[in-house]
Amino acid sequence: MTIRIAPSLLSADFAKLAEEIATVEAAADVLHLDVMDGHFVPNLTIGPAIVKALRPHSKLTFDCHLMISEPQRYIESFLEAGAEMISIHVETEPHLQRALQLIRSGGAKAGVAVNPGTAIESLSAAIDFCDFVLVMSVNPGFGGQKFIEPSVARIRHISQMIRERGLSVDIEVDGGIDAKTAPAVAAAGASILVAGSAVFGQKDRAAAIEAIRTAVGVVQA
Ligand code: DX5
Ligand code: ZN
Repeated sequence: MTIRIAPSLLSADFAKLAEEIATVEAAADVLHLDVMDGHFVPNLTIGPAIVKALRPHSKLTFDCHLMISEPQRYIESFLEAGAEMISIHVETEPHLQRALQLIRSGGAKAGVAVNPGTAIESLSAAIDFCDFVLVMSVNPGFGGQKFIEPSVARIRHISQMIRERGLSVDIEVDGGIDAKTAPAVAAAGASILVAGSAVFGQKDRAAAIEAIRTAVGVVQA
């Protein structure tokens, strides 16, 4: 399985985002952009205007993780801003299939995210409409939190659901991922690994990304 590394801009220096992106541009596969509304999660970050402003500064796939209430109201703005992957939380959207179809109709990959405390069964009706599932391995809102260990079993479970249904759905994992925690989540079936502090918290970002890649590769080999 190909592993893609997605540095999360949340842990970058917000005073110089374009320069920060340049430090991961060659080594990363995806750029993870955390959108928070101070309502669904207790923090505020960026919106579509910033995503749009950053878009010309990078060729990386832009992955917008919407940690916001009523995400459907903003999907078109993120599509217009240049998002190529958009995830919405299962806890926030009563009309999941409609929201996912809206994302896909704009040409982006559609994902559903689940918090660590959310029942996996809640994905059941939506997974057939997803290109990826985002499994939170911390409670969302902040970077630099400790990886929640039972997330590994949850990834395995979702991976099994995908296999049993014969779907081609990627699993993305987000929260507390570094070279130590990455091998287990990759072995469980995650193929897109988000890493905020483990990348932007390091001086040499390319080396930090490669360290995660190598750790996963060593276990998979
Ligand atoms: C947390 C965000 C994450 C965050 C991960 O709510 O969704 O993307 O940036 O940060 P780390 O990798 O430091 O746990
Ligand atoms: Zn995220």
